[in-house]
Amino acid sequence: MLEGKRIVVGITGSIAAHKGADLVSKLTQAGAKVDVVLTESGARFVTPVALQGLSGRPVYTDVFAATGDLAISHVELGRRADAVVIAPASAATMARLAHGLADNLLCLTVLATEAPVLLAPAMDALMFENAATQANLAILRERGMTIIGPAEGRLASGMRGRGRMVEPEAIVGALRRLLGRSGDLAGRKVVVSAGGTQEPIDPVRYVGNYSSGKMGYAIAEAARDRGARVVLVSAPVALSTPYGVEKVPVTTAEEMRDAVVAACAGADVLIMAAAVADYRPAERAGQKIKRTKEGMTLDLVPTPDILAEVKGDLVRVGFAAESEDLMRNASEKMARKGLDLIVANDITAAGSGFGTDTNQVTIIDKSGAAETLPLLSKYEVACRLLDRVVPLLKRSS
Ligand code: PMT
Repeated sequence: MLEGKRIVVGITGSIAAHKGADLVSKLTQAGAKVDVVLTESGARFVTPVALQGLSGRPVYTDVFAATGDLAISHVELGRRADAVVIAPASAATMARLAHGLADNLLCLTVLATEAPVLLAPAMDALMFENAATQANLAILRERGMTIIGPAEGRLASGMRGRGRMVEPEAIVGALRRLLGRSGDLAGRKVVVSAGGTQEPIDPVRYVGNYSSGKMGYAIAEAARDRGARVVLVSAPVALSTPYGVEKVPVTTAEEMRDAVVAACAGADVLIMAAAVADYRPAERAGQKIKRTKEGMTLDLVPTPDILAEVKGDLVRVGFAAESEDLMRNASEKMARKGLDLIVANDITAAGSGFGTDTNQVTIIDKSGAAETLPLLSKYEVACRLLDRVVPLLKRSS
């Protein structure tokens, strides 16, 4: 969603300026056209040359330097921006913005923009807590700017406290959410399940599967990027929670059932990308089971069918991970679970299924019509799936 977007990144004077440079790199890699505006103090921490190398575009520092297209107009950067991000945003810059000062190119650009503005403050905790900073933040928030962070942690002063700039990944997530806030899922609640449930055998072992959660997390991000409020019911995975997504951590199929049923109250869409165990051990041993020379049999009992248990006026989408007879098995599951759509996932295809960054799927609807997608990134699969979900939304937002 950042492809071709014009993003102004303001970098002000802070030890976190190197994270601003990382942000520039991430946005550029995501396809955005990044115009960096570096304040005089920011230039003490990172150089224009480095930022130009990362963005591949001119870096702006001086309102009077007639470089490139800025020669046309001093308000050009703000006027053409799709969004302005200031990361790190120093206390001084936020004070200037709160009082409408246009005494440097960055503040001038913010005054002259109609685009959404995102601020990622970074400063010492005492400066952040100061009544003046808090009052400035309240003014900026009230004027519609989005503030992300700061986070708690070790600060440049050596003290611990609230003042660290949040990580660039979170800023990218916040920016995507901001740009997508009027998307076709705005005002909608989307529940997504992800990851593989773990069914305990004893305190150290479980019955599980290979799901990494990547598919479900990509759906959660894509729904957020289109304006949805997203609840992500997640089995244990090694992924960080996408910014702006409400995560409900669970471990077993029964916990996932309870969390999904609760989250579906008032929801418009449920997408079950999780690999839910169909069986769990009948008993969980209280102590670690000891090795013997004998073989061992594990008694398994069925888990609840979560999709079949969720009723109500919402669009219900299942996935079918199949190793054979893909279309027949997926269609049977769709009918049995009464779904609106099913995503048939051939886990034997190269680059597809568990743990991969890409997926190869066929989306089947209630009429039996099937759309086979090429091998795509999981995020792109999620976008194509949501394209199919939006026309099925059952009630007005
Ligand atoms: O997580 P990744 O590594 O990215 O891998 C992605 C994936 C392969 C896990 C994903 O694309 C996928 O196919 N998920 C569904 C896996 C699966 O368990 O399919 P199934 O055929 O067993 O179940 C069919 C549907 O019923 C699924 O939507 C499942 O979430 C749901 N189900 C299953 C069992 C159960 N007890 N309750 C359920 O609701």
